[in-house]
Amino acid sequence: MFTVIAVLISYLLGSVSFSILIGKWVKGIDIRSHGSGNAGATNTLRVLGKGPGITVFLLDIAKGVVAVCLGMLIVGDEWTPVLCGLAAIAGHNWPIWFRFKGGKGIATTVGVMATLALVPCLIAGVIAIAAIVLTRFVSLGSLLFALLTPVIVLIMGMPMALFWAAFILCIFAFVRHRSNIVKLLQGNENKLGAKKG
Ligand code: G3P
Repeated sequence: MFTVIAVLISYLLGSVSFSILIGKWVKGIDIRSHGSGNAGATNTLRVLGKGPGITVFLLDIAKGVVAVCLGMLIVGDEWTPVLCGLAAIAGHNWPIWFRFKGGKGIATTVGVMATLALVPCLIAGVIAIAAIVLTRFVSLGSLLFALLTPVIVLIMGMPMALFWAAFILCIFAFVRHRSNIVKLLQGNENKLGAKKG
């Protein structure tokens, strides 16, 4: 019962889309109608600039951290924190407060995985950042991060609950990045710092 409550709270928390809120507060716009149309930190950076972009990134990470901590505090078994993390990302991607049209979940995934499995998250994070710096494709870095995390969790022999969490998050990430993958393959994906969305 407590697990269900924690998961539900995590979904509602994840549904608080900071990019949509900050877009409205800062410029009176719906971020989903601008740039790539994604309700996330990258598109906020693209449309509103560094300050709002970094703020959204940190707040979206925090949602993941808080959800997992909630699971640890309320139940504290092996699976509840994992389910809470997944619920927060599901909320971010399909937010109940914003007609189920949200983001791609990467910043919240970073928060969830950093809390559940810090070392794999750091290793995957460093490789992802290097890929972004080299190519300027945030989506490529995001996909690399999502792909590498479960692999590293497995190689390090961490509990299977963590592997399944990372594996499901990887599937979420690839599903949400479908349009980015097509653009990457066609060679017309948005580059970080490029003017047009
Ligand atoms: O995490 C989102 C990022 O990977 C891609 O964002 O706005 O370029 O589709 P965007």
